[in-house]
Amino acid sequence: MAESYIFPTIWWDGKLTPLENATMNVTQIGTASVSSVFEGIRAYLNPNTNELNVFQLDAHLKRFLQSLRLVRLEHDFSLQDLHDAVVALVRENNPERDVYIRPFGYAESRTFGAATDPHAHVVIHVTDWDSKLKTDSVSHSCVSSWTRLTDNQMSPRVKASANYLNSRYANEEAKRNGYDHAILLTPQGKVAEGPGMCLMIVRNGKLITPSITSGILESVTRESVMQLAREALELPVIEREVDRTELYTADEAFFCGTGIEITPIVSIDRMKLGNGDPGEITQRVLNCYHDVVRGIEPRYEEWRTVISNE
Ligand SMILES: Cc1ncc(COP(=O)(O)O)c(C=O)c1O
Repeated sequence: MAESYIFPTIWWDGKLTPLENATMNVTQIGTASVSSVFEGIRAYLNPNTNELNVFQLDAHLKRFLQSLRLVRLEHDFSLQDLHDAVVALVRENNPERDVYIRPFGYAESRTFGAATDPHAHVVIHVTDWDSKLKTDSVSHSCVSSWTRLTDNQMSPRVKASANYLNSRYANEEAKRNGYDHAILLTPQGKVAEGPGMCLMIVRNGKLITPSITSGILESVTRESVMQLAREALELPVIEREVDRTELYTADEAFFCGTGIEITPIVSIDRMKLGNGDPGEITQRVLNCYHDVVRGIEPRYEEWRTVISNE
């Protein structure tokens, strides 16, 4: 995988800081990783206005604050502080392309273990990450032999770095077996989500997606897609438990998430979905999402924080 370029200024505990000066003690790696929660936010360049559209900034920041709260990390920042921090950071780096914004909250401790300092540091950095929307990217997926985490164990609702060890197992196994992505099931055998994304299936013209109590992250993209499907595309959308065999009998399926964006799933466990090409409803969702996130579609402006390049 190509390494992403990290833009030269980061935001750290309230200050814009040169990346090269943003160092921490190497002995903190273990504790900071175990304690940390994070977010992933995309900003899309509008080709007509040359402005960056940060997609669903406040929804992501609210989830970030919720993750910090659920792991009981204290901090000094309000939603507005973090919103302003992201805007200032993007302005300072002045990217003239699509970027990815990553806030992290983490604690430090002199001893490696569960008991860290209750106070979180917050750091935000910006990298490039090209969009794959409308590039014909598809996924051949598999059902993972690994089970998704559960709420009373390590809640998938918390976007905690440590949860991604579960994702790593599933990802690594899928790639080793020649698939693009994994789909994880709950301990009850119901469909949960991918290692870093949610999913939706299409059956008989209806969009169906595992409910928020099916071992998933409360995905901002999933929420946005459900609203777009209902309002802009006039499609029925159902949130419910999804059986494994419904994956194989689906007419269409796609992943959704900030990183994966909308990616059509064309086969699962080597069973083709439909005729093996991205389905018609999936394409409609993808095109609509593309136009909304880039600001080509004027509606849903409340989802976009527009930052002009100076
Ligand atoms: C485990 C997991 N599920 C779902 C998602 C999708 O969430 P969102 O749409 O908020 O990016 C992500 C990505 O961040 C994720 O890591």
